[in-house]
Amino acid sequence: MNTRTDGIVIAIDGPSGAGKSTIARLLAERLGYIQIDTGAMYRAAALLLSRAEINLDNLAAVEQFCQNIDIRLESDSGKQVVCANGIDVTDQIRTPEMSLLTSRTSTLRPVREALLKSQQQMGRRGGVVLEGRDIGTVVFPDAEMKFYLSATVEERARRRCEELTCKGEKVTLDGTIADVVERDRQDSERDIAPLRQADDAIAVDSSRLSIEEVLTIMVTMCRNKIEAMEPLP
Ligand code: DC
Repeated sequence: MNTRTDGIVIAIDGPSGAGKSTIARLLAERLGYIQIDTGAMYRAAALLLSRAEINLDNLAAVEQFCQNIDIRLESDSGKQVVCANGIDVTDQIRTPEMSLLTSRTSTLRPVREALLKSQQQMGRRGGVVLEGRDIGTVVFPDAEMKFYLSATVEERARRRCEELTCKGEKVTLDGTIADVVERDRQDSERDIAPLRQADDAIAVDSSRLSIEEVLTIMVTMCRNKIEAMEPLP
């Protein structure tokens, strides 16, 4: 039975700093779709685990805790709000400490299993743009449209450096390059659902393209796909 009553499923995977969040938000806006930032869900789970002081080496305790977590992505006047067990954690999940903790907790099987279920539930009717690391390979291997958005390490580090400098943080390009390389390694070398380009994903290298250029490519391909899937009158 076709459960895609609201449109197609669009998967955007790729390493950190490739521009997935910005592109996913704009693509969803243009198509009238819902954006699902799965990285934000992993961050919110990490925050809950840390606040509850769960021992991450005790997988049984992590599993039990994850059975009762409730993570929602809501929209407030166009801004994405992340709620964890009913509390708005949108800003708290974006600190460097949470990035570090999330790269550890997102390797844990009970965390991934809990979030996998809710991501599949949220997207099953279609009309969604999901972004993450394992959307096209694990969460929705049957997604109608898959993109793998990447950029060179240097370019991703340059963008990250610029973003952090704007926030008033003191960072160097060399230090940021090292961080980017390390996060790529962690994301792609983990045992469960590693970062990998799905065989049927379209690779988009954003290194030398503006946001608008990347968006134009992706919107056009998605619209063509949506039109091709709509039954003729
Ligand atoms: O995209 P992000 O930087 O907000 O992701 C935060 C962390 O979550 C990052 O370490 C990778 C991990 N993640 C994941 O393992 N699987 C996903 N589908 C999305 C994010």
